[in-house]
Amino acid sequence: MSYVIGIDLGTSAVKALLLDRNGTVAAEASRDYKLYHEHSGWSEQEPEDWVTGTIGALRELVEQSGVPADAIEGISFSGQMHGLVLLNAAGEPVRRAILWNDTRTTAECREIEALVGQERLLTVTRNPALEGFTLPKILWVRKHEAEVFAQAVSFLLPKDYVRYRLTGALHMDYSDAAGTLLLDVANKCWSSEVLEAVGLPASFAPPLVESHELTGTLLPEQAQAAGLSASTKVFAGGADNACGAIGSGILQEGLTMCSIGTSGVILSYEKDSGNDFRGKVHFFNHGKADAFYAMGVTLAAGYSLSWFKNTFAKGESFNELLDGIGSVKPGANGLLFTPYLVGERTPHADSVIRGSFIGIDGSHERIHFARAVMEGITFSLNESVDLFRQAGKTVDTIISIGGGAQNPVWLQMQADIFNADVVSLENEQGPGLGAAMLAAFGCGWFESLEACAELFVKRASVYRPDPAAVDAYAGLFRIYQKVYSQTRSLNEGLQAYRN
Ligand code: XUL
Repeated sequence: MSYVIGIDLGTSAVKALLLDRNGTVAAEASRDYKLYHEHSGWSEQEPEDWVTGTIGALRELVEQSGVPADAIEGISFSGQMHGLVLLNAAGEPVRRAILWNDTRTTAECREIEALVGQERLLTVTRNPALEGFTLPKILWVRKHEAEVFAQAVSFLLPKDYVRYRLTGALHMDYSDAAGTLLLDVANKCWSSEVLEAVGLPASFAPPLVESHELTGTLLPEQAQAAGLSASTKVFAGGADNACGAIGSGILQEGLTMCSIGTSGVILSYEKDSGNDFRGKVHFFNHGKADAFYAMGVTLAAGYSLSWFKNTFAKGESFNELLDGIGSVKPGANGLLFTPYLVGERTPHADSVIRGSFIGIDGSHERIHFARAVMEGITFSLNESVDLFRQAGKTVDTIISIGGGAQNPVWLQMQADIFNADVVSLENEQGPGLGAAMLAAFGCGWFESLEACAELFVKRASVYRPDPAAVDAYAGLFRIYQKVYSQTRSLNEGLQAYRN
């Protein structure tokens, strides 16, 4: 039997998944790493921690499975998007990576709009300048850390850096490059217009490849450290949301995904670049060659629930925190939460807004707060579902993956709030599975990603909307939607008190 490995380089941890030719998971291993929040709105990681974590997880995976190293044919990657790794001429990072959920770059976003022109930016990159994207981060370092920036000759995204360290070759795939704000998304090339407008040389941008493309083999010393063979083929991989889409079979028009990880996304397949949402939702290249997807993003989805658990249920598991959550009725006894812990992206691109609990009363216990957090995250995602419906898309079935798909109460809540059938999968680890599928397709095991999905992606259950809960949530959602505008100026005032 031969095997492939999917590596999911996330924000809280790296997970490695070993799959056989039937798509059966033979082993899993993961390593956590540190997140640095030095100031409100800042979020950084140490690229070396990703490399050490990935090699550690790979070694454990191989040892645990007992699979001989030369039976593992290929590896590919899924990566947290947008994170900036600036490299010097020796290929070393010149500073920590600045991550997707870092919102320090509002001024740089306005600068990009002025230099490129808002309309041109939307036409070429298909996206507006948002704090989370990579280009504003590059300009921030150039402005605020000129000496550090002077050493930088090129940049990579998180999983590209890990792949570079494993193979010695510099590449970036289209699906991740799309999130830099430097790619001409429809034409699949770096935009010389944007590069020139912001004053970056063409050499700054690394070579582009397809997600299933072979980028090399493992460097002998890294293969040895990971317990793998140096002839293992390494395929480019993709952005975590593109890989999540592959791993949940979102490979044709009409399919929608809900992913609740640290961030939350509602993603809809686009067969070509024809639909133009004019920046209301993100529009990126898919990991399937020449396809695209549109996506709305909630910055703090699973992150809101983790924050709540770490702050109010320290030392307890999610199962303990959520025990009995199904017995609390929709609406958490009049308690509403907005998940704007690190600002928001869709539909309110706003780095200043912060979260709220509205309606606290003496009857509320911790369980009501936990339910309100889950509902608030789901309401935020429903704003993206709404945008897609307003744009004329039919959203009647949503495939749910990530942490949000591990809890049946949350899956039912998604069905009731989205007013759509919600499908869970046998393996809800979308991004890692998608990465492994890219390796399987790259190795030539299948003639297409769709053929691979037929075998690897297995539906588990369908959660159907309950009419009474749909009604209750529709009313609450209208109240939820007012919280943003009514707390906006309060949060502006509070900014002065943030560290
Ligand atoms: C997407 C985004 C997040 C990250 C999470 O635009 O910023 O979903 O990809 O890893």
